[in-house]
Amino acid sequence: MNFYWGTSTAAYQIEGGATEDGRGQSIWDTFSHTPGRTVGGDNGDVACDHYHRSAEDVAMMAKLGVNAYRFSISWPRVQPGGCGPANAKGVAFYDKLVDDLLGHGIEPFVTLYHWDLPQELEDAGGWPVRDTAYRFAEYAAIARRALGDRVQQFITLNEPWCSAFLGYGDGQHAPGRTNGADALAAAHHHNLAHVLAAQALAGKQVGISLNLHVHEGDPEAVRRLDAVGNRIWLDPLFKGEYPADLLDDTKGVTDWSFVRDGDLAAGTLSFLGVNYYTSQVLTFGEPQTPSAWPGSEHVHMLGRGLPRTEMGWEIDPSALTRLLEGVHREYGPIPIYITENGMAAPDLTLDDTDRIEYLEAHFRAFGTAQAQGVPVKGYFLWSLMDNFEWAWGYSKRFGIIHVDYESQARRPKASAHWYAEIIRRGGLLGGTDDDPAHKVGGQADA
Ligand code: FCB
Repeated sequence: MNFYWGTSTAAYQIEGGATEDGRGQSIWDTFSHTPGRTVGGDNGDVACDHYHRSAEDVAMMAKLGVNAYRFSISWPRVQPGGCGPANAKGVAFYDKLVDDLLGHGIEPFVTLYHWDLPQELEDAGGWPVRDTAYRFAEYAAIARRALGDRVQQFITLNEPWCSAFLGYGDGQHAPGRTNGADALAAAHHHNLAHVLAAQALAGKQVGISLNLHVHEGDPEAVRRLDAVGNRIWLDPLFKGEYPADLLDDTKGVTDWSFVRDGDLAAGTLSFLGVNYYTSQVLTFGEPQTPSAWPGSEHVHMLGRGLPRTEMGWEIDPSALTRLLEGVHREYGPIPIYITENGMAAPDLTLDDTDRIEYLEAHFRAFGTAQAQGVPVKGYFLWSLMDNFEWAWGYSKRFGIIHVDYESQARRPKASAHWYAEIIRRGGLLGGTDDDPAHKVGGQADA
């Protein structure tokens, strides 16, 4: 079986080179330079300096033996200001990156939007405004023209839930706005942007990466967050419409008059990207403001006493199995790639056995889903190397490669050696909980 064993990164988290070669400013530049928004006032000005070290980083991946790499294009680097012609120097960076990857037999998976909206588009209203979706489609066409002769796999949006609801709902992410109605309008314009970009990418493999939420607990609370967390994306993508209960739950927040006939179209996806880290237990309590859950502000998340990662996220591999089986049952069959999964750890030494345990448990969890017939066709570990973890700055390390931000030295952690060995063997032997003979994953020949 062909299987993609990959790693995942995002432009603003690793590139640096923030003002070089005509790159414009994004909402994350503005946000991270605003006092109080990120831990330690950290920003992505330099990050992992990948802008100057991409060849070295690709060589590092080749050494790991991955056959796929998911990275994102910085929109303001290739189209400063978010409209008008492409910036040739910005395009040249990705051009070379793609050539380097292909030269090493690594298939590029290109994410078009991993949260770095050009600041000018935010100044014109941002994602709550319809025009942003049209601008995104133009940018998608630029990316296709520049790279589409060599790149087959495109991911339109990364985690639109975070972009819409953390960006415009609870304000934890750029641009840091806190308005439920704006957040829902932003969500719709992400859905519209996906459809328009998929048209611009016709003939390519088109996917989207969703951070699907796995919840248990109070059934009404679970239904609510399933609507505004999961089905708000999945129903438009697979059924071409919003779920009726979502419209009902949110009617006190917005009348959804920003939706126009023909905005949603099912059938745009060649594959579904699933990002998974943790799960939650839900209950009801006092409404929280600001909230990332418009219309369901009174839903609360509880801990269960499970071991937690350095992010404070509970470790629950079995929820990944449930998630994959559930999506397959409700919306499949469609090839699924796990486009992000991984763990922040203290990483006081390079001996990150906690991360290896986390990864192994999650490999088994998706292996169990595979054994049940869910077409999981690839796994992209978050992350290739330590990087700028958004509002957490550099205080959280997700990499299997350690980055010393002073010297920019990269050093593989134990998990990198472990991952390389799994890939070399063509998957994790020893299988799933219920089928020990099963081999998780498969051969890494693209
Ligand atoms: C996801 C993001 C990714 C990274 C991981 C830890 O929500 O897509 O950029 O920050 O979380």
